[in-house]
Amino acid sequence: MLLARRSVQTALRTNLCRSFSVSRTQFQERNGLVLGVFEREGEETGLHLTEAAAGFDQSLSGKLSELLNISGPGLKKGKSRIFYGIHKDFPCVAVVGLGKSNAGVCGVENWDISKENIRQAVSAGCRQLQELEVKHVEVDGCGDAQSAAEGAVLGLFHYDQLKSKKKNKVTAQLHRSADADGWEKGVHYAEGQNLARLLMEAPANHMTPTAFANIIEERLAPHAQRVTINKRSQSWIEEQQMGAFLSVSKGSEESPVFLELQYNGSPDSNQPPLVLVGKGITFDSGGISLKPSASMDAMRADMGGAATVCASIVTAAALKLPVNIIGLAPLCENMPSGKATKPGDVVKAKNGKTIQVDNTDAEGRLVLADALCYGQTFNPRAVLNVATLTGAMDVALGSAATGVFTNSNWLWEQLHKASVVTGDRVWRMPLFQHYTRQVTDCQLADLNNVGKYSRSGGACTAAAFLREFVTAPHWAHLDIAGVMSNKDEIPFLGKGMSGRPTRTLVEFAAGLAHNS
Ligand code: BES
Ligand code: ZN
Ligand code: ZN
Repeated sequence: MLLARRSVQTALRTNLCRSFSVSRTQFQERNGLVLGVFEREGEETGLHLTEAAAGFDQSLSGKLSELLNISGPGLKKGKSRIFYGIHKDFPCVAVVGLGKSNAGVCGVENWDISKENIRQAVSAGCRQLQELEVKHVEVDGCGDAQSAAEGAVLGLFHYDQLKSKKKNKVTAQLHRSADADGWEKGVHYAEGQNLARLLMEAPANHMTPTAFANIIEERLAPHAQRVTINKRSQSWIEEQQMGAFLSVSKGSEESPVFLELQYNGSPDSNQPPLVLVGKGITFDSGGISLKPSASMDAMRADMGGAATVCASIVTAAALKLPVNIIGLAPLCENMPSGKATKPGDVVKAKNGKTIQVDNTDAEGRLVLADALCYGQTFNPRAVLNVATLTGAMDVALGSAATGVFTNSNWLWEQLHKASVVTGDRVWRMPLFQHYTRQVTDCQLADLNNVGKYSRSGGACTAAAFLREFVTAPHWAHLDIAGVMSNKDEIPFLGKGMSGRPTRTLVEFAAGLAHNS
């Protein structure tokens, strides 16, 4: 705080000094402003102000562009530069670089560059203002208020619930633009992803299956008119004969929960639902096939599938999307104990198929197998499961994109289209019989829970395993192990659990609503 104040005072003493006097109150309740500038076509250094930035500049008789010119070379995309004391309502103004103005969709990158640039730039500006302990920021819509809102709300997220010293909380609002609806939509999308980040980041002793289900119930309470929640307990899971799910949960002292959400957004209550299934392992120790201890803490986020699925349903409800969705989350811990499943044990899934559990660390496919069988009893228009399923997925694509294995070209196209808009990308992966043979060739049972060539094509053999529990013509498995966490690859997410691909799931559901 002291440092931030000093830098403000230093700037005021230098050539940025304005005629306004900065009172103590302004230090305490300072507002910030984020304004965008595009690169001028064909010029290295020229800048082109957005409509809002030009309006602001005009109100200061060209002071902003003058300062921009003298403060250094052209503003690179994603970079932010602060000007202090140039406007009485905004003691701190962050000007951010948006890159080229007409970048649009790139067929190689598979995303909309303009939208992605806005998210990056706005988040950089907001964060810089957050560091300066600004309490409230107004944000330039930069011609796409939804992307600007996403950049602001995602960029300002911090998980500090369990720290005594909290980071400065900043609120954001749209600065002078007609596109209030776009801004609001972006806030919903980003808050949805932030909910998933919060659920994933929380430590496993806090985020137990029961705690997870209670938080989702709380978040859905304002939408009770359209939402039904069932928190199924162990006895229900037993009645359903979900032997594969139970074989994972039985090693832990923590009770399993099968969470079932029904969102009835369509005016036609009989419209077949979209079924979303999320892997909900609140901690994956590996079970008896214990994982190495280095980085095992990251396995608190092994419920990322459940988190993104449930967060996208909370968001669909907040947006009142006219579509019916069922969300299913088999929630439990995977722990070693005297009661835990042992390598070589054979268990029976809900559809009667037997599974030899050669590796208890390949537990995600077991809980999903039963949840998929149950999900298909709802006569769905499409079934999606989302799971931090395999380390091999991370090896294949890293954090660039979610791997999608699907039996439906239509579903693939819908997902791909949604991901180009959100920038939270997907990439299609194979579902060849080649991989199926590696899980059906099994000594004791119908299926083995690991491929017979162990590590090779691990993400693909896991998908082939899941496919053995699918009867729906439109099914997709999203392996999100690679996108589970962020170091600095996605600049507007910061370090930590990513909540990906919540926005893509919401955009996909919105697309279905549009098509019905
Ligand atoms: N939850 C893990 C996969 C994972 C790894 C997610 C790293 C995110 C980051 C999963 O349950 C697992 O352990 N899979 C095994 C399967 C193997 C035993 C066939 C894996 O990927 O090593
Ligand atoms: Zn595992
Ligand atoms: Zn796991």
